[in-house]
Amino acid sequence: MKKFLIPLAAALLLASCVQPEPALKDVFTGSFVLGAAINEAQISGEDIKGDSVLVRHFAAIEPENCLKSGEIMPVFGQYDWILADKYVEFGEKYGLDVYGHCLIWHSQCTPDFCYDQDGNLISPELLKERMKQHISTLMGRYKGHIKGWDVVNEAIMEDGSYRNSPFYQILGEEFIPWAFQCAYEADPECELYYNDYAMHEPAKLDAVIKMANQIKERGIRIDAIGFQGHLGMDYPDLELYEKHIRRVKDETGLDVCITELDMSILPTLTRSADLGEMSFTEAMKNPEIRARWESVLNPYPDGIPAEVRKAWNKRMEDFLVMFVRNSDVISRINVWGICDSDSWKNGWPIPERQDEPLWVDRDYRLKPFLNSYLYGR
Ligand code: GLA
Repeated sequence: MKKFLIPLAAALLLASCVQPEPALKDVFTGSFVLGAAINEAQISGEDIKGDSVLVRHFAAIEPENCLKSGEIMPVFGQYDWILADKYVEFGEKYGLDVYGHCLIWHSQCTPDFCYDQDGNLISPELLKERMKQHISTLMGRYKGHIKGWDVVNEAIMEDGSYRNSPFYQILGEEFIPWAFQCAYEADPECELYYNDYAMHEPAKLDAVIKMANQIKERGIRIDAIGFQGHLGMDYPDLELYEKHIRRVKDETGLDVCITELDMSILPTLTRSADLGEMSFTEAMKNPEIRARWESVLNPYPDGIPAEVRKAWNKRMEDFLVMFVRNSDVISRINVWGICDSDSWKNGWPIPERQDEPLWVDRDYRLKPFLNSYLYGR
């Protein structure tokens, strides 16, 4: 009996969560595809409310973590497919476009991807072989099921130089075209993207445009540049961001995807002298430094004031209006999580910090700025 009651309860809960408003994905049809990143609880169906909002309002999914090399392949060549297979099945079950994130990234990377048993960097030939093996294994398994992949993530720095990652140390700039070539050979029908943050930085954009054009000149497929939309209340400048979105189309012919969209309602982290070379995560482990930063970075421990929420809604709406205005260039917008409680920005770098960066609040209600799209007000 219990066996039947659980699915019935789940179905009733799902039905009760279905909201009466029009679906966001339909509102933006014709402008861009609207997607969201999903986590393990959503993939496995444990987050019934989150899944209900997702399926109603979003047309596409990206996995927050389960396709990153370090997650799916803890040791080079040894794959654990369980969650990744569930992710793809989940998308297909609900008729969502399924995207892949990400094939080559220095972070959350399989520890021995670029190293030998003694911890030394491997040779250029071996790294090329390993990259090809990893890319063709992953893309091959999901060929015809995953519509587009972030092939390389975060390889260029804000000043336009290449990140000194192990991939770069071994292969130099060549690791990027090589990754795209492997991806193109693995699935010629699949869309391929380069994805990075801080795309409002002029030197960084110049370098990304140059790199994308070099890939195109070699006849290798690249479809779009992903602008990771990790926005803040005071950065980036909206006009500059818009200008950079258009520059990609004008100077490469490629589309832009707004990926990883979230706008922190809390103050933005800025470097200061007392951090030196330390990462924020490291710095916050030091009680003295943490005490100095806590009140600056977590100014509303008892709840976000109404006027701050209003300002957040206004700024997110301004960005959305701008994205719609540039929908001839922007092919997809992907919000980085379904509701506020899902966001990676909670608890970082201040452990108790509660951010509100997404389009759906902790009670699974759409944020007010979306009303004008849904109801014209
Ligand atoms: C980067 C990655 C994402 C995610 C975020 C935050 O932007 O591309 O996959 O890990 O960092 O954690």
